[in-house]
Amino acid sequence: MKPALATVTLFFFLFAFSTKPSHVSASTGEPVVDISGEKLKAGESYYILSAVSGRGGLSFEDFGNDTCFHVVVQESSELSKGKPVKFLPLNSNDVNTSINLNVEFSDTIIGCPESGVWKITKRISEALNVGTNGVAGVGQNFVNWFMIEKAESEGAYKLKFCPNPETIVCQDLDIFFYGDDGKRYVGLANPGQFETLEVVFEKADVNDGDAEMSR
Ligand SMILES: *[C@@H]1O[C@H](CO)[C@@H](O)[C@H](O)[C@H]1NC(C)=O
Ligand SMILES: *[C@@H]1O[C@H](CO)[C@@H](O)[C@H](O)[C@H]1NC(C)=O
Repeated sequence: MKPALATVTLFFFLFAFSTKPSHVSASTGEPVVDISGEKLKAGESYYILSAVSGRGGLSFEDFGNDTCFHVVVQESSELSKGKPVKFLPLNSNDVNTSINLNVEFSDTIIGCPESGVWKITKRISEALNVGTNGVAGVGQNFVNWFMIEKAESEGAYKLKFCPNPETIVCQDLDIFFYGDDGKRYVGLANPGQFETLEVVFEKADVNDGDAEMSR
């Protein structure tokens, strides 16, 4: 498929259903729990690990020549937990499923003025990346809002891009590939061009850095 065609398809996929009401808004969800069974707390740091073995945690990396633009990737080694994030729910302190929240990397991005807040951004013609330099809080642009939902597998969760207000359909975040650079990019891709992302959460020690996996 030519990149230009893929782009058109993707934007159709994103915006075609913009008038469809979301079924999730009526639900208050249920508390999201970490791998120790503890409820996630707003503003505390967690690693987002793969629910499937053989993959690492979510992290950020430079993209292209711009050293101050970062995209979210999944580490390919199970030994790397990646970089911890904080969940910042909208209008609440409950990190529940089915509620809008901002996600922010806990580590500052050294040497760069950008924020660590996640947003949907276009960096690759075939897909939309999750990148950094978003803005957290009420009234901010729809590209900054995400959601956690239970996945099919027992104890696993999915991450969704879920705009607030929900005028655009929510979509699962998946892993996609770009050329043969071997990186596992997190974002929105056309159906059939991605690998499903299922995750679990592990509480991060504040001074942990890029810790080795302990399990
Ligand atoms: C989170 O879930 C709990 C349990 O279902 C519920 O009592 C609470 O109101 C929910 N919080 C929000 C903000 O929806
Ligand atoms: C990066 O910089 C090199 C050298 O200036 C250039 O040839 C290349 O096209 C640039 N790549 C991107 C993605 O901008």
